[in-house]
Amino acid sequence: MISRIWPLALLPVLLGVSLARRTTLDNRLALTPPMGWNSWNHFGCNVSESLIEETADSMVASGMRDAGYRYVVIDDCWQVSRDAKGTIVADPVHFPHGIKALADYVHGKGLKFGIYTDAGTKTCQGRPGSYGHEEQDARTYAAWGVDYVKEDWCNASGLDARKQYARFRDALARSGRPIVFSICEWGSNQPWEWAPKVGNLWRTTDDIEDKWTSMLANLDQTGQHATVARPGAWNDPDMLEIGNGGMTDDEYRAHLSLWAIMAAPLMAGNDVRTMSAATKAVLLNPEVIAVDQDSLGAQGILVWEPTPELQVWAKPLRDGSRAVALLNRSSKPDTITAYFSRIGIHTDSASVRDLWSHSEVGKFKGKYATVVRPHGSVMVRVTPAH
Ligand code: GLA
Repeated sequence: MISRIWPLALLPVLLGVSLARRTTLDNRLALTPPMGWNSWNHFGCNVSESLIEETADSMVASGMRDAGYRYVVIDDCWQVSRDAKGTIVADPVHFPHGIKALADYVHGKGLKFGIYTDAGTKTCQGRPGSYGHEEQDARTYAAWGVDYVKEDWCNASGLDARKQYARFRDALARSGRPIVFSICEWGSNQPWEWAPKVGNLWRTTDDIEDKWTSMLANLDQTGQHATVARPGAWNDPDMLEIGNGGMTDDEYRAHLSLWAIMAAPLMAGNDVRTMSAATKAVLLNPEVIAVDQDSLGAQGILVWEPTPELQVWAKPLRDGSRAVALLNRSSKPDTITAYFSRIGIHTDSASVRDLWSHSEVGKFKGKYATVVRPHGSVMVRVTPAH
């Protein structure tokens, strides 16, 4: 009798533990938005061990690693099957030394290593998903030395997103390894309402395309959920397209500026092995990266829009200054004015620094106005003068 009651008596305790786990994510990771590189935007399914190793090498040589781009993430198509025990198997042709050896290589470069899976039965490219294998996959990834997992939402019809992602969060917690958890259900289940307790970042939109209109659409959608972002929990308007060729340099500068204003994850999505000097200059701008990585962790918002095509976005920073992006969405040059009261600066005057020309513009009273190129932006830091 006692032996039958004993496990029952333990049940509330066990339940209490698992309920507590189920209501929060407390992995102390991604206290600033994650930065790194992901294979999908440029390479799609063409991923391989040599691509990842060469990319890691280039991230060190180009200065990307030292600028903060730390996570090297293989997206879809690295996996081919499961073995007799259900363990996930990497494509032996493209990853001949296996994922553990690749993670070791990436770690040896002072970088972190990430991987992709799917909450459903199959990934978006038809590879095996994690459904029903959550514990096993989390354990496998931890044993391989994975530091970041992106979990997608294809082939998941009928499943409850909150439950499935919480299941993976708990499996990762039980794996014993600190692993950043990236939720990718494209904003289709209102993740801003629940994901801050489940993942470190969550997609807010459909996949980005290497086009000005797509970049702006993701900005507009993500801008609506600013209040929920905080250290450890970030809205994700999707990975960067900088350097992939579909936008002008002005448009790519705006892309990085606006992602920084949104405190968005900065996952480069280009071929870093062959990137041009122009691409490098955009991706590696230390002053814009510093805005993204500011320790206050506030997501900036749209504060002023005299016409729908001329916008002022502002983000409060830890030191009391404001990062401001003046965005010209139109096809002709125009003057955009940042009124200090609208961006949260209440001193009589403030100094303005241009974060792309890396120079002090001067001291201004009440407002700062400048001409902004079509499909372009000006990004400044406004510091109250005392
Ligand atoms: C979905 C995701 C993308 C990428 C692909 C891979 O579309 O949103 O970011 O991971 O799947 O198949």
